[in-house]
Amino acid sequence: MTGNALLLGTTGMLAAAARHAALQAEKAVIVSRKAGDFSFGDEALDGKCECLSLSYDDEPAFLGALEEYAPFDIALTWIRPRAELLRAALDALMAPGGLLVEVMGSRSILTGENGAPSIATLRADALAAQPDLTYAQVVLGFVRENGASRWLNHEEISAAAIAQMEMPLPRRIAGTLEPWDARPQ
Ligand SMILES: NC(=O)c1ccc[n+]([C@@H]2O[C@H](COP(=O)([O-])OP(=O)(O)OC[C@H]3O[C@@H](n4cnc5c(N)ncnc54)[C@H](OP(=O)(O)O)[C@@H]3O)[C@@H](O)[C@H]2O)c1
Repeated sequence: MTGNALLLGTTGMLAAAARHAALQAEKAVIVSRKAGDFSFGDEALDGKCECLSLSYDDEPAFLGALEEYAPFDIALTWIRPRAELLRAALDALMAPGGLLVEVMGSRSILTGENGAPSIATLRADALAAQPDLTYAQVVLGFVRENGASRWLNHEEISAAAIAQMEMPLPRRIAGTLEPWDARPQ
């Protein structure tokens, strides 16, 4: 059992990974704009989940609502924007010794404007300095097969997130990011 789980932005492509986390948790908080409509279709599992319909676009309201459910022993997050402040605020909601699995898109490895570090590097560096938290990043790449490239499917994306729950690495790349020019258009 992994205690209290935060599952943020996991109602889509990460639903299988969210199920994996919820199965092992004592209780879970599922958060997305329409999380109120979400169900695992499993009475026992749904019974230990609190579904909160919240948008991270309104950061103060979002964090204020989540604080009531913290601290979290495990968190699985998929946040599209760079959202540095939001991500840092979520770190503070983790329990000591907790595991944060943060899923990021392919572009998260690109250097920002004016040479700013990529969000993937920035987060990896910041979390490496927090000894009380295990940080396991997933960077979503693409798949090259039969001379063509395609984006990862949901099963592959969730499998990478589950692998980070089971055997956390500072960074796990799902598929490949190289050569960058070969990514699907
Ligand atoms: N290789 C890559 O870099 C890469 C990266 C990303 C995606 N993809 C592909 O693109 C497809 C679609 O991606 P997607 O981002 O739409 O993934 P998704 O996981 O299907 O949906 C986004 C998730 O975030 C939640 N969400 C979105 N905006 C939110 C907000 N403002 N506040 C709180 N939660 C929010 C959504 O729930 P609500 O709608 O309820 O808010 C949902 O849980 C995927 O199927 C994947 O194959 C590839």
